[in-house]
Amino acid sequence: MCGIIGYVGKKNATPILINGLLNLEYRGYDSAGISTLESTCISNIKTKGRVKNLYDKDIDSLEGTIGIAHTRWATHGKPSDENSHPHLDNSKTFSVVHNGIIENYKELKSFLEQNNYYFLSQTDTEVIPNLIHYYYTKNNNFLKSVNEACKCLKGSYAIEVLCKNDKDNIIVVRHDSPLVIGVNEDDKYVSSDIPAILSYSNNFYLLDNDEFAMISNSEINFYDINLNKIEKKLKHFDYDITSSQKNGYEDFMLKEIFEQPNSVRETIGSHLSPDSLISFNDFDFKLEDLKNINQIYIVACGTAMHAGLSCKNTFEKLLHIPVTVEIASEFRYRNPIIDNKTLAIYVSQSGETADTIAALKLAKTNGAKTIAITNVIGSSITREADFSLYTHAGPEIAVASTKAYTSQIVLLNILAIYFAETLDFADKNFLNSLKNEILLLPNKIEYVLKNPDNIKNIAKTVASKKDIFFLGRGIDYTVALEASLKLKEISYIHSEAYASGELKHGPIALIENGVTVVSILTDLELLEKSISNIEEVIARGASTFVITNQELVNSNYNYVINIPKTNKFLSPILSIIPLQLFAYYIAKEKNLDVDKPRNLAKSVTVE
Ligand code: G6P
Repeated sequence: MCGIIGYVGKKNATPILINGLLNLEYRGYDSAGISTLESTCISNIKTKGRVKNLYDKDIDSLEGTIGIAHTRWATHGKPSDENSHPHLDNSKTFSVVHNGIIENYKELKSFLEQNNYYFLSQTDTEVIPNLIHYYYTKNNNFLKSVNEACKCLKGSYAIEVLCKNDKDNIIVVRHDSPLVIGVNEDDKYVSSDIPAILSYSNNFYLLDNDEFAMISNSEINFYDINLNKIEKKLKHFDYDITSSQKNGYEDFMLKEIFEQPNSVRETIGSHLSPDSLISFNDFDFKLEDLKNINQIYIVACGTAMHAGLSCKNTFEKLLHIPVTVEIASEFRYRNPIIDNKTLAIYVSQSGETADTIAALKLAKTNGAKTIAITNVIGSSITREADFSLYTHAGPEIAVASTKAYTSQIVLLNILAIYFAETLDFADKNFLNSLKNEILLLPNKIEYVLKNPDNIKNIAKTVASKKDIFFLGRGIDYTVALEASLKLKEISYIHSEAYASGELKHGPIALIENGVTVVSILTDLELLEKSISNIEEVIARGASTFVITNQELVNSNYNYVINIPKTNKFLSPILSIIPLQLFAYYIAKEKNLDVDKPRNLAKSVTVE
């Protein structure tokens, strides 16, 4: 994980670097640091904790107009000042920031130690500046030394390097970790992602694997791994920068929850017209290829995987093709059966999740057709997949995903309908009614969001609980999983999600007086059975909170939140919203940092 920023220009680099780091804090916030090129040396200021802690340091002393910076999510070595980036080599000639993991760092460390280098941190990264220095003592060439050092590295890295003896350039390189370069006439910016530097530039170079860039304020030279010069195309990206700001909401998460009528509207509007026609840009999935498909994988991590689970039934019903939904980190290591009759769909809000991208490459190598569903235009996954579809939910900043999830479900449903129409064998009336229901979703979401205070009051009564259970059957079970994840992520309350019918095979032993059980009841066919399961927990003393779109007669539940009816395949989009608010208000009640929960990061770019 981690986020890196770089600046080469005519202005003081420090405020620009800090601003960029603040935008990248979603990638980790264990420590932060800055290096700038000053007249006689490299200045290096770093600190444990949040980026804002840098303001307590002597950053006003930094005058350099060239600099690199880092915000960390700890992998090797605990969060501490000495493990913070940037890392310098022993002679303080080079400074390096790094996103990724150097898998062979122990081997490199012992090689360097044999050559009289010493180490001040427990990180894998510190080998990089020392290795660059090692080669520099042999060739006295900045670019060649970085290149030689990178040839020794195994693992993933996006790195930026400053050299005390080169007052004009920084060198950057990437291998399996993202890196983009934004350009203006007089200034150049480097970043782990585009949104972090959007306020400075709309024009970007996207570095590919093993490409090097030597950046000065007048020019950028690109090189391949053998240091042959290469040409790169400048790309233009338009983003709405205002949507990355809080707009009066207390937290990004709350803002993003309340943005869902619009984000879902955008997802629908981009792919499904008001007269129910589906169109996907640059999506040339041939009918012959589709006819050939005999199995579908949906692969993702975290919330994106839950979105996949919620859509399995839509694909199976509409296409009559078996669908397996898998966790990317498991999929990639279990030798799944993949051939040229496989369609593999990868869902990732950020488009940067390392396991998801690796799982995509695996399927591609084995002949599968691959589709990426992502929210971030130009993200790494879009450069690997055969086809990419965008959710257009707008930037999602809070670590806990909300609006990306609902947009992913919308888009997956539209994709399933598109394939069913292309194959021409699903019931047309059913497809039309599903499309009509999709078009009605934004207004229904608005309705669900009308009375947040009801949920706030319920949340207050359970904020001190130690365990909360979530139950559901069928598609409601997939929502239970996502609701439980949301609660764990931001409130630190232990919670379990169970398929209601599975409860009596073990977890019911944990139900006792006062335990809170949240049930989702939206599937009419399974309603009676689900109600019986709630009775079983009531009989054992549980207090119950029910989310439903059904009329419940004589119910004896502690709390009930009613949501509008919709097509069964779309119900998670409505039923998750009160539960996102539930998790949010509990975390607020506990005075927790909702947008940046402990130990987590928004984009998990390490395995
Ligand atoms: C992290 C985030 C989750 C997210 C998951 C997958 O764990 O905290 O909110 O669902 O990564 O991220 P992606 O960007 O691939 O959807």
